[in-house]
Amino acid sequence: MKNYDLHIEKIRELVSGSQSKEVTLQSICDYLKNNIPHYDWVGFYFADHTNQTLHLGPHAGDPTDHTVIPFGKGICGQVALSNTNFLVPDVAAQDNYIACSIDVKSELVVPLFVNRKNIGQIDIDSHIFDAFSEEDERFLEEVNKIVSKLF
Ligand code: SME
Repeated sequence: MKNYDLHIEKIRELVSGSQSKEVTLQSICDYLKNNIPHYDWVGFYFADHTNQTLHLGPHAGDPTDHTVIPFGKGICGQVALSNTNFLVPDVAAQDNYIACSIDVKSELVVPLFVNRKNIGQIDIDSHIFDAFSEEDERFLEEVNKIVSKLF
């Protein structure tokens, strides 16, 4: 256990605060990146269902050029269509992958549902190979459940 219960309490506090949605999401990204050692990049992408594109929202970590991703492209684009988590232990083994940095070795993307609609996702990159477990999936599902209250 990596203090995930404590982190959930912190996320709840941030979401029930009085800051704007944008500031709250940024604080969540900063908090997760700064407090969970294997989370090297944390960001939210939001879906434009009309244009079938994902758009980068608040994020923490190295800057990325990939601010707009078509549905179906990369790990994020695949999750926009599949509505399920995508855990990638080794990004080098993925054909349909968009590289943001050569330092990234593994990735986990978890969809964000509001009223059962997939409105976007949280994307975590790690510089460690095979960094993520089912525990991270359950944790990020819980984070997204709390975040969905902002919408
Ligand atoms: N690697 C992602 C692109 C987003 S960056 O990780 C910030 C993908 O393949 O969809």
